[in-house]
Amino acid sequence: MANLIIFGESMSQQWWHSATVYQIYPRSFQDSNGDGMGDIPGIISRLDYLCKLGISIIWLCPVYASPMADNGYDISDYCAIAPEFGSMEDMQALIKAAKARGIHIIMDLVLNHTSDQHEWFQQSRSSKQNPYRDFYIWRQPDEQGQPPQFNPTSYFGGSMWTLDEQTGEYYFHQFASAQPDLNWRHPDVQQAMHKIINWWLQQGIAGFRLDVVDLIGKDIDAGILANGPHLHKLLQNMNQQCFAPQQAITVGEVWSATPETAKLMTRPERGELSMLFQFEHILQLHHPEHGKWRARPFNLIAFKQQLERWQQQIGNGWIAQFWGNHDLPRAVSTFGHEGDYREPSAKALAMIQFALKGTPYIYQGEEIGMTNVQFEHIDDYRDIETLNHYHEKRSQGWAEEDIMTGIFRHGRDNARTPMQWSASAHAGFSKAEPWIGLNDNFQQINVGQALVEPDSILYCYQQLIALRKTWPVLVYGEFFMLLPDDPQLLVFKRHLAEEAALVVVNLSAEPAAFSYNGHGEQVVGNYGNRQQISGHYQPYEAVIFDLGD
Ligand code: GLC
Ligand code: CA
Repeated sequence: MANLIIFGESMSQQWWHSATVYQIYPRSFQDSNGDGMGDIPGIISRLDYLCKLGISIIWLCPVYASPMADNGYDISDYCAIAPEFGSMEDMQALIKAAKARGIHIIMDLVLNHTSDQHEWFQQSRSSKQNPYRDFYIWRQPDEQGQPPQFNPTSYFGGSMWTLDEQTGEYYFHQFASAQPDLNWRHPDVQQAMHKIINWWLQQGIAGFRLDVVDLIGKDIDAGILANGPHLHKLLQNMNQQCFAPQQAITVGEVWSATPETAKLMTRPERGELSMLFQFEHILQLHHPEHGKWRARPFNLIAFKQQLERWQQQIGNGWIAQFWGNHDLPRAVSTFGHEGDYREPSAKALAMIQFALKGTPYIYQGEEIGMTNVQFEHIDDYRDIETLNHYHEKRSQGWAEEDIMTGIFRHGRDNARTPMQWSASAHAGFSKAEPWIGLNDNFQQINVGQALVEPDSILYCYQQLIALRKTWPVLVYGEFFMLLPDDPQLLVFKRHLAEEAALVVVNLSAEPAAFSYNGHGEQVVGNYGNRQQISGHYQPYEAVIFDLGD
């Protein structure tokens, strides 16, 4: 494909710039054998649906062998499939069936840590002399028997160091104690992972989503975890040994990303990653001290500043565009309106996402406007992070209601309730009681319903997915923010050669007035067909206009 000049930098076009990715959380997508747990044959049975939607790539959350302490982000064998999800034959059948429909699969790869049940860790913990000892990070206790001084709180609560009785040393883990961090400074770790990556690419997958990849370059003794000094070298080696030769697509999960570091990781000439997820729009919701558990409301003006910075500064690097995933609350509940304006606000969010530079990612259920859930009892929750948080805060004296409010707004199980396929029993997800409760709005919000309504959120996504493939201005156009200080409206323009698009979104539940000196033709809208750009915009009204040339 051709080269373009964007903000003074040369940009080579890639097919995945205009493609759409669909994220599947296998446990909650489709159960095929009536055990209440989603599985790979279930995914195969829904490929025609994904094909109809028009997506080109599936990001498959982990399906590897795992004790499931963190639902598969604790891998015990990278080259085996968890029996609850199926077999290696099922996985091969999925790759083949997807390929037959023009759909590529990228797998989720956890590089930072393994399960404590992984053979490497079993060996490593067995003795200080074991050849696998240095695959992980071990430190002696100090004179008082305490862990090393550098001792931050782990992401799932508690210390990042756990004492292992067998050899009397502490091992390091940024997540649960069942997820020991690998020691990426060890060349054998690098080689072992390269082998695994290449093995999977040979199975016919298109690439990987790299879990918390900015953590692998850490330097513990210097107290640096994210975006550490070894990161770029590690990624460049991985790219040379694995990604480049097989033309793999890679997307990194990078909570620490700034436009500057994102460019280092994704400019094609640096040979690291294809693109990454950046989280500034999520992090702005976090409380300075209590993070997501005492979240702040979405701030549109701050969001516009972030958006403009990313769109203008990413240059010839590339990012993913997303509102939700399996770790985040439901997009429409967080950034839109889950009550009266659920439909228009879900469409408005999609229109913003698809009209930006960056590859759009849809999280399962977003395309029908699935919402957050509120389970009555903490025992109804399944997520390790949520449960650890609940028990820790209860023991620290937080009020029950305070904790539950945080969980309702930001707990990860919001995104993990079963996919709502139909209004029938268990939402068509399974014949049996699912592993986690359903959202009880499944009788109103489900795929079956969306398919029979010509104006559904689903068809809006379908239209946007198709539009991005045929209208390069949305993919490559230069970005200009209008009305940066308006508290209701998000308005931006994209320009490419002679073409221009204008996106006008009222991201509030009140009407808003907008005046614009010029004409355009509506390409996509969520309130019927607008003749004029100027005028009143309904709550959550959104329109993409073609300004012509
Ligand atoms: C990533 C995953 C999340 C997991 C964590 C540890 O953030 O998306 O689900 O718990 O890494 O692997
Ligand atoms: Ca099953």
